[in-house]
Amino acid sequence: DTVYVLNGPNLNLLGLREPEIYGSDTLDDIAAMLEDRARELGLAIDMRQTNHEGMLVDWLHEAQAEGARAVLLNPAAYTHTSIALLDAVRAIRTPVIEVHLSDPATREPFRHQSYVGMAAARTVKGLGARSYLVALDAVAEL
Ligand code: DQA
Repeated sequence: DTVYVLNGPNLNLLGLREPEIYGSDTLDDIAAMLEDRARELGLAIDMRQTNHEGMLVDWLHEAQAEGARAVLLNPAAYTHTSIALLDAVRAIRTPVIEVHLSDPATREPFRHQSYVGMAAARTVKGLGARSYLVALDAVAEL
């Protein structure tokens, strides 16, 4: 069973980008951690990143078409703006877990709204890179 791990804008700069907020692990580091944990759980990981909103929509559709077990989705700033992503999460039957490194609820007011969160099966946030691992563990419980 494959779990899609979809990452939105600016997360390609993880490790360099505001490390006091997001930590020093890169997306490749997180992919390596997830692969180890996935192996233990008998799952496979398909980790991707894009800076383009519509690409995330296409990948969500693909996750369903390919029969993915679940999607871990860090929509980054599109979390707070994208009705297209909310609709895409609602449009597929594949369960989507929303993931954030930081806890947007404790940051600027414009980060308090999550459109994706309105449709996500679960949200894991505020644990740094570990948010992804906790979210992967949650896939087993879905
Ligand atoms: C983020 C939180 C978002 O508010 C922000 O725009 C990001 C990253 C996180 O993982 O903490 O780019 O999704």
